[in-house]
Amino acid sequence: RPQREVVLPSELHNRVDYHLKSYLSKKVVKKDGHPDNTLPTPRMTTEGGFNEQQRTPVAEGILRRKSIQLRNKQQDWQESVEGQKMQELRKSLPAYKEKEALLNAISQNQVIVVSGETGCGKTTQLPQYILESEIESARGATCSIICTQPRRISAMSVAERVAAERGENLGDSVGYKVRLEGIKGRDTRLLFCTTGILLRRLLLDRSLQGVTHVIVDEIHERGMNEDFLLIVLKELLPRRPELKLILMSATLNAELFSSYFHGAPMIHIPGFTYPVRSYFLENILEMTGYRLSTYNQIDNYGQEKSWKMQKQQTVRKKKTQIASAAEDALEGADMRELNPRTRESLSCWNPDSIGFNLIENVLTHICKKERAGAILVFMTGWDDINSLKDQLHSHPLLGDPTKVLLLACHGSMDSSEQKLIFNKPEDGIRKIVLATNMAETSITINDVVFVVDCGKAKETSYDALNNTPCLLPAWISKASARQRRGRAGRVQPGESYHLYPKSVYDAFAEYQLPELLRTPLQCLCLQIKTLQLGSISDFLSKALQPPEPLSVQNAIEYLKIIGALDDNENLTVLGRKLSVLPVEPKLGKMLILGAIFNCLDPIMTVVAGLSVRDPFLTPFDKKDLAESAKAQFSGGDNSDHLALLRAYDGWKAAERQQSGGEYCWRNFLSLQTLRAIDSLRKQFYHLLRDTGLVDNMEKCNTWSHDQHLIRAVLCSGLFPGICSVVNKEKSVSLKTMEDGPVLLYLNSVNAQEPRIPYPWLVFNEKVKVNSVFLRDSTAVSDSVVLLFGGTVSRGAIDGHLKMLGGYLEFFMKPGLAATYLTLKRELDELIHMK
Ligand code: CDP
Ligand code: MG
Repeated sequence: RPQREVVLPSELHNRVDYHLKSYLSKKVVKKDGHPDNTLPTPRMTTEGGFNEQQRTPVAEGILRRKSIQLRNKQQDWQESVEGQKMQELRKSLPAYKEKEALLNAISQNQVIVVSGETGCGKTTQLPQYILESEIESARGATCSIICTQPRRISAMSVAERVAAERGENLGDSVGYKVRLEGIKGRDTRLLFCTTGILLRRLLLDRSLQGVTHVIVDEIHERGMNEDFLLIVLKELLPRRPELKLILMSATLNAELFSSYFHGAPMIHIPGFTYPVRSYFLENILEMTGYRLSTYNQIDNYGQEKSWKMQKQQTVRKKKTQIASAAEDALEGADMRELNPRTRESLSCWNPDSIGFNLIENVLTHICKKERAGAILVFMTGWDDINSLKDQLHSHPLLGDPTKVLLLACHGSMDSSEQKLIFNKPEDGIRKIVLATNMAETSITINDVVFVVDCGKAKETSYDALNNTPCLLPAWISKASARQRRGRAGRVQPGESYHLYPKSVYDAFAEYQLPELLRTPLQCLCLQIKTLQLGSISDFLSKALQPPEPLSVQNAIEYLKIIGALDDNENLTVLGRKLSVLPVEPKLGKMLILGAIFNCLDPIMTVVAGLSVRDPFLTPFDKKDLAESAKAQFSGGDNSDHLALLRAYDGWKAAERQQSGGEYCWRNFLSLQTLRAIDSLRKQFYHLLRDTGLVDNMEKCNTWSHDQHLIRAVLCSGLFPGICSVVNKEKSVSLKTMEDGPVLLYLNSVNAQEPRIPYPWLVFNEKVKVNSVFLRDSTAVSDSVVLLFGGTVSRGAIDGHLKMLGGYLEFFMKPGLAATYLTLKRELDELIHMK
């Protein structure tokens, strides 16, 4: 057997030593203190919500006066000229006709379910009716209404809209709160927040003291947070008999929710939409005369591929149920009625690709031949939208800004971009909005007359067997397709172009699978533990549609490996700290370790980068240039995270010289993303300070220059996201334990290296797209993995060794193993202490 000397990097040794000493000395000082005493007391006021008022007689008097003030203010607005105009507008919405019925039902029941066509006024009106009626009944100062939204952007835009409808500024009676951001004041009575924010609020206050109404919006989407919240609220309701719960849903599966809440009454708001004509691919081909040929389809990665080649790949690939049903349907479809040219063209249709050329063709057709009205195009995701936008920009008609206003609409756009989407363009200019499925229900663009539907949406799914999250464009459900079509009939009769054959539509599933059944459950499990909701499996079995036991088991196992849960599934000190930080557990762990090891600054940058998005841009036509620009930042360090760090630091330096913009342009960096990272960093710092994890910024950075240490902290967070590296003659082969061979995304600095002089890569994310791809990786040494990968204080040394493979059998000499174990245990204890 080959013998190997083990050398821990000396600086690492020193650091651990140093911290062990300070840790030991701390322990002496806090002789009587239970380690838990170091846990920060979260401050209520930083989390969206209202503090329970102190009800002394004096306070009662103040509240009464306040309520009367609010009522007078509301009356003044309603009687003003502008207020009257606004009232008229609001009365024209379908929800208004049901106002009395809704308020009555709410006063007589603890739970009600409201459904209605998108745009009928559920989100903007219903919470407002409740607020107005509370204020009119002189309960204005004591009511507290929380309305949850699945997305940040809708929470923000709806709050702004409702404040405007009330003639107020945001932060008066209406406010919003989303992760790390919000506007709300002392008098805010109606708060729009993301579902995640309400879950965090529940962490601090399990019975929602002082809250009078909870409105959960868009429940038909069956998001994970919403499903989770419903379980928690269902358990809470008997303990808070005066709390009202209102569930709002767009489509007609209200019965499901009603029966979950013991037959809660349902109220449907009849909506009005104009009729919409549907065209499927065969009609579109006949109408436009466009021919699909074997070579002209461009797939969503922007590469031309022949249909035959793709067909072969498709056959080899394990097909998803819907995709294969759709294909079968296509093959069996009755195409006799079509003209022969269309039939031939249709047989070239490629179900695996989003045909950009086809979309371009349909858009040109509408712009040239059809009446005025905005076009809403449903794409699968952000990258698709960007690539299509690039392609359309160079089109003679669609790229001409005097004729076409081309806009993108997705979850991460900023508010100025958002406003453009709602505005009507000047006469003669055609508005085209490229959107993700968020424009299906949460955002209503009023002037849309034409809808183009690619039939797919990027859907996260989760392969529990291989414990791998997948992000693939998947066929949408019939409910989604109907919803997309409906967006065309807002202002006048509309038209909807579906870029797939009718037979494929017929094969769609009725509804999409709920998110709880298709995503990893780690964050959720941590929350269940933090909220002290008992056994994770028992709790999740109470969901509307409970997740697979294997998925639950995987999540629990993960939390044990990173040291957030102990062997008995109890929350550890680390786990409790992680639950206070509004980032994924792995990112939270990095922040905590960055603070412990005094290299916080660089770690905050990396964590911010990982939670915003990649600032490195790879424009379609300049891929090579962009990749070499990124490689410069890597400096041969074999780390995407360190490259990000250098790029950010370089930008900060350039900003000081007033040349930040030019620096970004030269280096293919997104200025907007770097700014977002910058602001997130500041928020992290405040958060860490507020929760008591950091007291002195300078002290927290004494080791920030030390690359080895940064790698170690990255490893602590990313583990067990780890793959082994074997350098072959001409290539590098990578393997993870669960997936076997894996590949790197091409824009990773490690993908460019002919060899990687480290035995391991830790990575942030793996995604299954045909093969398993790793995003953002950092190379690390054995000793770093040994010391910082996972935790052994729970007695998991066996698992720990197994994780590193048989390699360790000869790696560990008995004496050294003992030293290592001591060191590792001390280190784990240190992590749990701080
Ligand atoms: O929630 P639901 O889909 O039922 O409708 P809503 O979001 O309350 O929208 C009601 C009306 O207000 C629609 O016609 C929207 O276009 C309009 N609205 C608006 O003009 N600006 C906003 N920021 C939000 C809604
Ligand atoms: Mg809504």
